Amino acid sequence: MEFLKNIFKGYESPEVLDIATGTGGFCIFLSEFIEADAHYTGLDSEDRLFPFAEKQTQGLNISFEKGDAMALPFDDASFDIVTMANSLHHILEPVKAVSEMWRVLRPGGICLLMEMTRDDQHAAQISHVNFHHFSAEMDREIGRYHRETYTKNELISIFEEGITQKTQTEFVVWDIPPDQEKAKHLDMLRNRLEPMFSKMGDKRTCFEKKRDELVAYIEENGFKPCSSLFLWCAKQA
Ligand SMILES: C[S@@+](CC[C@H](N)C(=O)[O-])C[C@H]1O[C@@H](n2cnc3c(N)ncnc32)[C@H](O)[C@@H]1O
Repeated sequence: MEFLKNIFKGYESPEVLDIATGTGGFCIFLSEFIEADAHYTGLDSEDRLFPFAEKQTQGLNISFEKGDAMALPFDDASFDIVTMANSLHHILEPVKAVSEMWRVLRPGGICLLMEMTRDDQHAAQISHVNFHHFSAEMDREIGRYHRETYTKNELISIFEEGITQKTQTEFVVWDIPPDQEKAKHLDMLRNRLEPMFSKMGDKRTCFEKKRDELVAYIEENGFKPCSSLFLWCAKQA
């Protein structure tokens, strides 16, 4: 992750915007690489998790705002660093979201996108890809936009179309202990996804069958987080 330190070097008291922040986990992750006197804004279309996010990010100078990634509620050139992690596949118009990231970025600032990818994954990582596709399918069943995992080339095209400036890309494999991830995802499938299963109506049996196949695949092949692509670009000063 040395490259992240280099990307963010030299930004003093930066204003950081993290889009689709959820519970602010990516802000905590970023704070290892960004100057300690940064101010963070976490934006999400849902505000129900903000109380939890505030608790989780205690110690960071952070505020949370409700808003849509495709129509950001900020003036042009408001932030030094604009990020979005693990969320592009939740957004109906991804190019529009990237162009909004670019619009609110100041000249000289950094736009960074992080997203899981589905190509070139080994058997244990395919457990993660399949898990993601399974939960995306259940979300779509209840009317939430949630597409399957992008490939690296799809992400690069979306990014380049949104920012219209030459990009540099970096490809990083997360180093999370696979055993811990395996137990967590099996627990989700066997227990914590129950509220979702109960919303599947007459397709419940079909989803339970898919769940059992996924559990069997994970038991046989293990579970490892799939590779994530980091894409970033500095806006010309
Ligand atoms: C998988 S979570 C990722 C959260 C966080 N970025 C992380 O890496 O932990 C996806 C988030 O995208 C948010 N989201 C979905 N569509 C959005 C939109 N159009 N605008 C803003 N946030 C959105 C969801 O509410 C959810 O919090």
